[in-house]
Amino acid sequence: VKRSRILGCGSYLPANVVTNRDLEARVDTSDDWIVQRTGIRSRHIAADGELTSDLAIAAATRALEHAGVDAASIDCIVLATTTPDNTFPATATKVQAALGAKGFALDIQAVCAGFVYAMSIADNFIRLGQATRALVIGAETFSRLLDWKDRTTCVLFGDGAGAVVMEGYDAAGTAADRGVLSTHLHSDGAQYGLLYVDGGPSATGTAGHVRMNGQEVFRHAVSKLSSVVEEALAANGLEPAAVDWLVPHQANQRIIDGIARKLKLPTDKVVLTVDRHGNTSAASIPLALCEAVHDGRVKRGDLILMEAIGGGLTWGAAMVRW
Ligand code: ACO
Repeated sequence: VKRSRILGCGSYLPANVVTNRDLEARVDTSDDWIVQRTGIRSRHIAADGELTSDLAIAAATRALEHAGVDAASIDCIVLATTTPDNTFPATATKVQAALGAKGFALDIQAVCAGFVYAMSIADNFIRLGQATRALVIGAETFSRLLDWKDRTTCVLFGDGAGAVVMEGYDAAGTAADRGVLSTHLHSDGAQYGLLYVDGGPSATGTAGHVRMNGQEVFRHAVSKLSSVVEEALAANGLEPAAVDWLVPHQANQRIIDGIARKLKLPTDKVVLTVDRHGNTSAASIPLALCEAVHDGRVKRGDLILMEAIGGGLTWGAAMVRW
C-alpha cells in the first residue's frame, strides 16, 4: 500500500506582535471581552511589504531543514492560502522558484480548512504516484483582508505560515503505519454567506474585507467538527482514547474545548496556540503542529488528529501517525 509519511515541519511568524491592549486603541473592544469569547491574547501581523510568499518560503525552508531533504527533491508544492500575493499566478509557483523545487506547484483555497485540504490533495498525488515528495504549506497574511473598523472580526485573526514535507513509501496498510492514515473533506456551499470576503476579481475588482455571522459559524463549527472527527476515528477503527494529540484549527478556544470534551480528551492532549497566534486560517494547524513537534511533545509513532472548518463552509479532518 502506497502511503505518505511526514518527514519534517517548519513554521514562521512575522516579528510584529499585536496584543489585545493594542487593539483597544483601534476599536471599541477590551482584552477581557476578547479573552473570554475567544481565548486570543495576541497575534502576529505581517509588516508592510511582507507577503504571503515570504512567510511561506521561510516556513518551507525550515521544514526542508528539519526533514533533512534538498529542495530540488521536491516535485509537488501545494500551498493553502486565502491571501495569495496576487490574484494570479499561484503563490506556490513563487515559492517553487525561490526554493529551487521541481515538478509542479499549485494554490488551493479552502480558507481555514485549507491545510487539511492541501494535505489531502498532496496525499492523493503521492498515493497515485503523480508526486514522490511534496511540500504542503499553509500561509496567510489574513490581516490584509480585515476591516480594522469592524471589531467583530478584526480582533480574531493573525498572520503566519507552517509547512510539512511529505513523501511516499510502501506501508503495511494498517493504523500502525506512519504518515497520513486518512483524510476527510466536506463542503456546503449553501452556507456561503456565513463567512466570506465582500470583494474579489470577478465580483468587485477589489480585494474586499472579511464578513462573518459569528454565532452561526460557531454553531456549525461545533456540530460539523464533531461529526468529521467521528468519521475519521471510525474510518480507522480507532477509539478517541487512541488519539495522542488533537491539533485543531485555532479559531476559538471555546470551539476547541467543545471538540476535546466530545472526544473526552484531557486538555494536555490538545495543542493550543490560539492565545498567541489568533486565527491564522490555513496556517494555524501547521503552526500548532510544528510547535508541538519542535518542543518535543509529539513523538514518532504518536497519533495526531487534525480538524478544521472555514468559509464555504469547508471542513475536514486528517488522521496522521507522526
Ligand atoms: N469587543 C467587544 N465587544 C464586541 C466585540 C469586540 N471585539 N465584537 C462583538 N462585540 C459585541 C457585539 O457587538 C455584541 O454586542 P451587543 O450584545 O450589544 O449587540 C456582543 O459583543 C456579543 O456579540 P456576539 O456576536 O453575540 O458574541 P459571541 O459570543 O457570539 O462571540 C465570536 C463572538 C467570538 C465571533 C463567536 O461568535 C465566535 O467565535 N464564532 C466563531 C467564529 C469564528 O471563529 N470565526 C473564525 C473564522 S471561521 C473559523 O475559523 C472557524
